[in-house]
Amino acid sequence: MRRLTSCLPALIFVPLLPLVGCTPERPANTNATPQGTTPEKNSAKKLVVGFSQIGAESSWRTAETNSIQSEAEKRGVELKFSDAQQKQENQVKALNAFIAQGVDAIILAPVVETGWEPVLKKAKERKIPVILVDRGVKVSDDSLYTTLIASDFVAEGRMAGEWLAKKMGGKGNVVELQGTAGAAPAIDRKKGFEEALAKHPDMKIIQTQTGEFTRAKGKEVMEAFLKAKGDDIQAVYAHNDDMALGAIQAIEEAGKKPGKDIVIVSIDGVKGAFEAMVAGKLNCTVECNPLLGPAAFDAVQKAVAGEELPKNTVVEDKVFDQSVAKDVIGERKY
Ligand code: AHR
Repeated sequence: MRRLTSCLPALIFVPLLPLVGCTPERPANTNATPQGTTPEKNSAKKLVVGFSQIGAESSWRTAETNSIQSEAEKRGVELKFSDAQQKQENQVKALNAFIAQGVDAIILAPVVETGWEPVLKKAKERKIPVILVDRGVKVSDDSLYTTLIASDFVAEGRMAGEWLAKKMGGKGNVVELQGTAGAAPAIDRKKGFEEALAKHPDMKIIQTQTGEFTRAKGKEVMEAFLKAKGDDIQAVYAHNDDMALGAIQAIEEAGKKPGKDIVIVSIDGVKGAFEAMVAGKLNCTVECNPLLGPAAFDAVQKAVAGEELPKNTVVEDKVFDQSVAKDVIGERKY
């Protein structure tokens, strides 16, 4: 918009000027500031960043949104926020709008891995850096995005599987609540978990289905698992804490004790998961840190300053189980 409005007088008074002169190309950025300083204090023009978020499906997602919004505010960055409500088409629309507005950079949390090439190509043509946060994309040319800041989801799935195999003595039937179909964390967490279980032939996944990373769907799918397999279920592996919390409800409503009759392991490390561990209803959570705001804006500022960035920054995660939950719950930040 800024670029388009600045073209209006020219369009009105010199109608024969070629329209191409008014294409909303990204202006050369003059806001590059050293890390940790406020752009406002160093230059007249505010950095404008578009953030395309997946939605608000989980407490993890809300924590990530808050982290990015509060970091933008702290650094004096104008943030254009768009919630895609789980739809890739909404994210593509938002990205096209950011590009048309001539933002200085885009932060994208992509809902699924594929289907991003055309819009990323457009951003690249306009020289708008795209910082991927939380989830990766599959593209033929990785110069289509600037950098990816995310956890290693395969490692998270592996840690969950190893923890569970140890807890169950290498034996037992597991049901799996998968994340959103086609999303990097759903694909990779499944892969990592299966890798860990492959070392334990007496551990089997007897049912698997998507619970779409939400508590409501996690509960609904767990109810169906319990109806189909009942007493055969010894453990639940949920790709996120919200689905595990939904499963806990379903297990209780079926008259069983979650965390005792059925062992539950999930991923994220949100406050609700720690509360459930302290209550003895969840056995283990593998942390996936959503507080990506500071790293995302460090990357934005470096990218607009023309600095080289690593292609991939892996966020460190660790395992928390009931044995430590009480001691660390007070320190949890999300
Ligand atoms: O991409 C990260 C995943 O997405 C989190 O594990 C989940 O809670 C979220 O919705």
